Amino acid sequence: SALLEYPENRLGNVADLTVNEPLDIAYPDADSPGVLLKLGQPVEGGVGPDGDIVAYSVLCPHKGWLMAYNAADRTLNCPGHFSRFDCEAGGQQIWGHATQNLPQFTLRVDDKGDIYADGASDLIFGRPSNVL
Ligand code: FES
Repeated sequence: SALLEYPENRLGNVADLTVNEPLDIAYPDADSPGVLLKLGQPVEGGVGPDGDIVAYSVLCPHKGWLMAYNAADRTLNCPGHFSRFDCEAGGQQIWGHATQNLPQFTLRVDDKGDIYADGASDLIFGRPSNVL
């Protein structure tokens, strides 16, 4: 999938995160809600000292419904038409109607533990391009 670059934004700090408890964020702007997650084991696209911090859009790629995190199986789930996305596998669709995987935000962590996003793996729902 293509990497879309957006202006860099600070999402939080490593110290703000508890394993498997999603933190609400918005990236690249206020109209694009997402979650910042510490998964407790190294995962695809994971950053930080444990390689386990990831961030995803929570707008379903199918029709843009707001999705909810399921801590039991570490997925994002859509109440609209029940698409499911694996947060431990780069936002891969497990089931559903969407025609793309969930956009994963690309992250970096600085030496103070601040977490920044600077792009996305796929187009965020409703956006025809990477223009803000
Ligand atoms: Fe999410 Fe249709 S809007 S599955």
